[in-house]
Amino acid sequence: MTPTTQLRIHRSATSESTQAFADDVRRGLSAHPKNLPPKYFYDPLGSQLFEAICLLPEYYLTRAEDEILAVHSEEIIGSLDILPETLLELGSGSAAKTRRLIDALFRQGRSTLRYVPVDISATALERSARELLGKYPTLRIEAYASDYDTALVRWRTERDGSTLALFLGSNIGNFDRDEADRFLRSVRHALRRGDALLIGIDLKKSRTLLEAAYDDALGVTAAFNLNLLVRINRELNADFDPRAFRHVAIYNQDRGRVELYLESARAQRVRIAALGLEVAFACGERIHTENSYKYDLDEISELARRNGFERRATWFDRQRFFSSNLLLVT
Ligand code: AVJ
Repeated sequence: MTPTTQLRIHRSATSESTQAFADDVRRGLSAHPKNLPPKYFYDPLGSQLFEAICLLPEYYLTRAEDEILAVHSEEIIGSLDILPETLLELGSGSAAKTRRLIDALFRQGRSTLRYVPVDISATALERSARELLGKYPTLRIEAYASDYDTALVRWRTERDGSTLALFLGSNIGNFDRDEADRFLRSVRHALRRGDALLIGIDLKKSRTLLEAAYDDALGVTAAFNLNLLVRINRELNADFDPRAFRHVAIYNQDRGRVELYLESARAQRVRIAALGLEVAFACGERIHTENSYKYDLDEISELARRNGFERRATWFDRQRFFSSNLLLVT
């Protein structure tokens, strides 16, 4: 008997391209104010630093969401109208939390399941896919190494059966309000009536807790942020001195977001050879590297409603720091 193909990885040309990185760095460091897109944090070292962040006492998000899924997976799956045949996960990362939901799906009667993880990193996809296949031999994995939009467009033409989409970890936090709308609409477009989206969203809370979560005592988040400069040095042959920049995390309450910056500790010029570019920094000048938006429940309901979903139910951790929201396609 020939073994059935249990793992396919679709790679798109745009995933992990140096040209896109070069263009974005040029654009961002020539802009006023200077900025760099947070998606470039996740090179091999950055990905490991992010995993370390998830273990920090101050970074409650991962633990809170894991607690929610550990306690409520059965109820989450039980509150769907149909038991889904496909689990579509956007930004799958290590897929640790996904296991809770896969377990619940198998316990509630699915015998086979298609798992469709989407992640920009083909390496991360491959690693987590192999781990999952070891644990769940009846799983079929159809992975997309690309950005979300590319994957959603491609997957939509091949999909069949009911789907539960997952967007965990408050990854929506990186999107501005209008980008979040656009993202939800493109997810909605790939889904059908009866499908649902489980989305993890960090909640608004005190400035003290939020700023500590993004500026931890051990300096791991600082290293995660500064690693962007190290990556530019390596991939674009630049001469950033990471010691001449400082990690800054500020909760902007008006805009409901934590903002991360790299602040130049002195006036300096940095040469990026691969771009033929020299960048001048004034003392105290900042590069804006990330926004992490926080929501309240009304905003989540509105976000859903504006984009073709309804918020059917929300689960919380005991401290009510984080929310897992089941959005039904309307
Ligand atoms: C992966 C976008 C959810 O915003 O909390 C963690 C990234 N940045 N610490 C977040 C991050 C600094 C994280 N997300």
